[in-house]
Amino acid sequence: MKIGILGGGGVAQTLAGKLMALGHDVVIGLRAVTPEDLAKPRQMAVPLQDWMKASGGKVVTLAAAAAHGEVLINAMTGQGSIPGLQAAGAAQLDGKVLIDVANPLDFSQGMPPFLMAEYAGPTSLAEQIQAAFPTARVVKAFNTIAAAVMVDPGLVKGPHDLFIAGNDAAAKAQVSAIARSFGWEHIVDLGDIVGARGTEALLPIWVRLWTTSGSAMHNMHVARG
Ligand SMILES: NC(=O)c1ccc[n+]([C@@H]2O[C@H](COP(=O)([O-])OP(=O)(O)OC[C@H]3O[C@@H](n4cnc5c(N)ncnc54)[C@H](OP(=O)(O)O)[C@@H]3O)[C@@H](O)[C@H]2O)c1
Repeated sequence: MKIGILGGGGVAQTLAGKLMALGHDVVIGLRAVTPEDLAKPRQMAVPLQDWMKASGGKVVTLAAAAAHGEVLINAMTGQGSIPGLQAAGAAQLDGKVLIDVANPLDFSQGMPPFLMAEYAGPTSLAEQIQAAFPTARVVKAFNTIAAAVMVDPGLVKGPHDLFIAGNDAAAKAQVSAIARSFGWEHIVDLGDIVGARGTEALLPIWVRLWTTSGSAMHNMHVARG
């Protein structure tokens, strides 16, 4: 399958690597593809020029990545998501599954980050992406898990859950199939895109678990009576 990943950080590189290993035709999209952008140091990831050399992967503009993908992944910052999708071009998103991995976290005051007010309350980033691009088939998924765990759920021991939310049942089925190909067994469908309010709001506890334990290899599990 042709997949366009928007964003070039650790999440984009990790998802791209796994999807390429599974045989998908993947490109990473950046807002600018200059030698400086490709050489830029990245937190919890390598410069993209090194990633390209090691993986054989391609880095193109946001618009080219969105045009390439039959399925798109938003792996941009929360703040950059809507501007980045606008730069990719609404027409390129039309009818496509858009997996929204982003979290609307504000790091401007250091750690811990907090949820951006414009995407909290009776809304969420995923809902605002769906409203801004009404013909895209947005599925919120993978945002409550470290990048390494997204593509290798076995890094966390015992049963644990992947939450998904979106308005389009066929899009959620396609995202679930991709998740199963990564090894996910427990996929919890939270209903329509409003379910993203819940998964985005899990981030403060996710970050707290990370900083108190010193490890990002954790996830949540819904136990039922
Ligand atoms: N890291 C994790 O394990 C993890 C887990 C779950 C969810 N998430 C979420 O997944 C997303 C990506 O995480 P990450 O760790 O890969 O982040 P990252 O390293 O900070 O990379 C973010 C990407 O967003 C791009 N970006 C920022 N502002 C933009 C704008 N205005 N227009 C276009 N692109 C813009 C950056 O572009 P440039 O390269 O041009 O600077 C960069 O490529 C975030 O929303 C994060 O909250 C992360």
